[in-house]
Amino acid sequence: MSKGELFNKLGLAEAAIMLANIVPKNFIGRTSERLLERFRAVLFGENDDGASFADLEHHNSDLFRRRTATDIMQGKNIGDLHDWWSDARFAQQYLTGTNPTTLTQAGPVWIERFHKAAEALGTVAKDAAEFIDGADPASLYVQDYSYYREAVGAAGDAELSAGSGDEKKYCAAPVALFHLPESGQLHPIAIVIDYKVDMSHSVTIFNQRLSPVEPGSAKEAEILAAEKGDWPWRYAKQVVQMADWCLHEIVVHLTWTHIMEEATIVAANRAFGVQHPVFRLLEPHWFRTLPINAGARDVLVPSIIFELVGLKDEQPYDFIKYHYGIFNWTERYIPNDLEKRGFPLNDLDGPKYRNCAYARNMALMWNCIRDFVEKMLHDRYPYDRDVADDPEISAWCRECQSNAQIPSFPTIKTRAQLFDAVTMCIHIASPQHTAINYLQNYYQVFVPSKPPALYTPPPASLKQLETYIEADLLRSLPVGHQRDWLLAAHIPWLLSFTTAKESSLLEYTISLYNLVRKSSDATDRQTKVIASQFYTKLLELGKVFERHSDEMTKGTIPYTVMNPATTAVSILL
Ligand SMILES: [Fe+2]
Repeated sequence: MSKGELFNKLGLAEAAIMLANIVPKNFIGRTSERLLERFRAVLFGENDDGASFADLEHHNSDLFRRRTATDIMQGKNIGDLHDWWSDARFAQQYLTGTNPTTLTQAGPVWIERFHKAAEALGTVAKDAAEFIDGADPASLYVQDYSYYREAVGAAGDAELSAGSGDEKKYCAAPVALFHLPESGQLHPIAIVIDYKVDMSHSVTIFNQRLSPVEPGSAKEAEILAAEKGDWPWRYAKQVVQMADWCLHEIVVHLTWTHIMEEATIVAANRAFGVQHPVFRLLEPHWFRTLPINAGARDVLVPSIIFELVGLKDEQPYDFIKYHYGIFNWTERYIPNDLEKRGFPLNDLDGPKYRNCAYARNMALMWNCIRDFVEKMLHDRYPYDRDVADDPEISAWCRECQSNAQIPSFPTIKTRAQLFDAVTMCIHIASPQHTAINYLQNYYQVFVPSKPPALYTPPPASLKQLETYIEADLLRSLPVGHQRDWLLAAHIPWLLSFTTAKESSLLEYTISLYNLVRKSSDATDRQTKVIASQFYTKLLELGKVFERHSDEMTKGTIPYTVMNPATTAVSILL
């Protein structure tokens, strides 16, 4: 399959105008000017000089009439909500948004740093200092992007930026502190705007409202009005969303699913014969991934993703290499990952974790896949020694550890190790990639909610940040930068196309069943039973996931992305 065919299938044909006339930076002329001007009017109004968030929201809702519902959220997006900027919407995205995979318990170091920063501000942050002091440490979480300078090899106080003049854009290395109360409503407490060297060289802002508001309560409207006009705090949340755009797209999505899966695919192709049971089991979950990755490497990543972020030269590549290097294969097994990040498996059905639908779903999905894997491989590997004695499995491990440079890939000697590693391959390719890929349109097409870069430098002091008004936030967004805005909005749309029915995980179980349906071979008869059980279990999970979504706090955006009937069987996009 040629790359051209691939991208047509992705829907890139529909973006022909944009890609042909807007992407090339050296495209000059009246056609491109006219196109961009037309988009300027559509996106920001006739004159973006006076644009406000209300204008951007209005144009977003106006565009709704022209949207094509090609994604699981039927073409809607977060900008349609009157409170898209609220603390509740912001925090919840780290539990059920595009990146629900990196929120982690704050730990003593960050708790101490935030506590000291609050104390240093005196009376202004007295309540916050007391709040942090009194909070159960296990209920404090962070989204930590503080290491970004280290990741790209920049000095601890270096400016993170790309481009020049009007097109100069910035990245930042924020840290957001959250509290997860017993009610389950994750709430942001404080944000370091851009961590440089240490806390004393960084700007930290504390939320004026330390508790979440109960939806429907008497004070809800009053508190939301205060949140809406708190521009310094809204700016801080915008910076975190920007940093997470980079982490999500370049790392969680590209490096930790697309590239990591490719490494195991290539290693498997070098180690296994095509009839090997592990290879045969995994092959359907590797459908189309290598050509998709080749296309992404050629066009999508260097010409679009890297063009949108505030990192320059080799920095985006260093960013990938750094994160590929820190990916720990076995620590990322879902049971290990959730426990390590502070989502205890035994407590996930309690009210405190009611909004953690990704974690609740994924814990069950992992067990479901692992059960299927174990049954499929049981007869071939009844004892640990059968695994240890398989030279092709040993070769796969060596390939992964050496040529694929995943030193944390286990040296598989036991049945449990084999089932876990195979489960991980299916997990990354299917439910994990689905969870982080197919909500991009909903959360990112309305660019102010999650921009890829800042268009003004981050504030140098808290005093400066406290002067911020609406216009400062708008200047830090790609308002007026039509090319960047269009790319930032269009790529999520493109990548969120709903999975074709025949490519779903559920449909895969039917195909597997049909493949052996009429066979009289003993192994095939066994496979038929296992496929049937897997199908039934996935159908049940679909209902459980619906319940998990319904159990979230009233008003929370439904979490339907993991429905097995729409979960892609492999990395298709
Ligand atoms: Fe993807």
